[in-house]
Amino acid sequence: MSIKMNIHSSVRFLVLFSVLSCLSVQLEAQLQVGFYCESCPSAERIVREEVMKGFMNDKGVAPGLVRMHFHDCFVRGCDGSVLIDSTSSNTAEKDSPANNPSLRGFEVIDSAKTRLEAECKGVVSCADILAFAARDSVAMTRGQRYDVPSGRRDGRVSLVSEVFQNIPGFTFNVTRLTQSFANKNLTQEEMVTLSGAHTIGRSHCTSVSNRLYNFSGTNGADPTLDSKYAGQLQQQCPQGSTNSNQVVPMDPVSPFITDVNYYQDVLANKGLFTSDQTLLTDSNTANEVNQNARNQFLWMRKFAAAMVNMGQIEVLTGTNGEIRTNCSVIN
Ligand code: HEM
Ligand SMILES: *[C@@H]1O[C@H](CO)[C@@H](O)[C@H](O)[C@H]1NC(C)=O
Ligand SMILES: *[C@@H]1O[C@H](CO)[C@@H](O)[C@H](O)[C@H]1NC(C)=O
Ligand SMILES: *[C@@H]1O[C@H](CO)[C@@H](O)[C@H](O)[C@H]1NC(C)=O
Ligand SMILES: *[C@@H]1O[C@H](CO)[C@@H](O)[C@H](O)[C@H]1NC(C)=O
Repeated sequence: MSIKMNIHSSVRFLVLFSVLSCLSVQLEAQLQVGFYCESCPSAERIVREEVMKGFMNDKGVAPGLVRMHFHDCFVRGCDGSVLIDSTSSNTAEKDSPANNPSLRGFEVIDSAKTRLEAECKGVVSCADILAFAARDSVAMTRGQRYDVPSGRRDGRVSLVSEVFQNIPGFTFNVTRLTQSFANKNLTQEEMVTLSGAHTIGRSHCTSVSNRLYNFSGTNGADPTLDSKYAGQLQQQCPQGSTNSNQVVPMDPVSPFITDVNYYQDVLANKGLFTSDQTLLTDSNTANEVNQNARNQFLWMRKFAAAMVNMGQIEVLTGTNGEIRTNCSVIN
């Protein structure tokens, strides 16, 4: 049975595979479930415990970590580059307006790393910690459980200039979103599936205000936005407000549950961003939104599989990259 088949086969199969993973052979340049099975058997448990601790203290940690993994993977692959601090000679990804101040959950990655360095020094990469933490965040918000192929290594480069070149913008239409995901070898359907992550978490008003005041209709809001919902958002996000702390929930119905409410919101013209509502403007993506809204079981499985694929974008393996000692600093 080929490894290629393992990686692309169903999530259910991956779960089964993980039981056997300590017996499996290490293959060059491929991630594998249970990579730390012998070198650091408690790795995934430690990450899960730290995510749980963070989540109990602040549920926002879960959406924060899911988004952080996405922002890591889309810029230079899933190499932990989003975790690196800026230095006097380099402004890092972390300080792009797409990440700062909105990304959250860094302290969870750091506390997991500190424990893992004490337990198995120099073994578990920050990129893998983040991939595990995103998976645990999905599980803790009642999403689908899935196994994470691991063995990623950490990158040594993080450039602010690469963020806007690679992270899709909230004003993007469906054509540009599709292109942005295709650039990462993800399909349009995976784009629609992964957008469902917007069923948890929050947004700063700065990512919504482009839809609230700049249109010629009666209330000045984007006509593709439900007018009652637009009115609520206008109250929560006053025009010209300079308060960068103002936030709104992405899915007001169940902001910390990974369910298909996102798709129901989009169908009700209550998708928060232009990039959410635009999924109804193309017949293929609109069909997928419809299907997902009606079939939670289907979406959950597709979401887990798409997270696994996203987690394999341009990964460093083998002897490439490094295992960072401190996730915020290159060795
Ligand atoms: C399709 C293109 C996407 C666009 C344009 C987009 C844009 C955004 C924006 C603007 C925010 C609000 C950030 C803030 O102001 O605090 C956000 C939040 C979020 N995004 Fe996306 N996103 C996209 C895809 C994804 C994907 C693929 C994932 C993960 C699989 C994801 C997960 C999240 C999560 C969980 C939040 C909430 C973060 C929190 O509560 O801290 N997004 N996204
Ligand atoms: C999507 O946006 C691009 C770039 O702004 C534009 O050229 C294109 O016409 C738009 N497509 C649609 C279907 O609106
Ligand atoms: C996409 O796939 C092509 C062909 O396999 C590969 O050369 C390229 O590096 C991949 N790109 C990403 C971002 O994974
Ligand atoms: C309002 O629309 C104009 C023209 O499309 C644009 O230049 C401007 O940036 C928009 N303002 C806001 C707050 O989105
Ligand atoms: C990691 O590096 C950052 C930045 O230099 C520092 O503030 C932090 O204390 C370090 N963490 C640990 C656990 O050493």
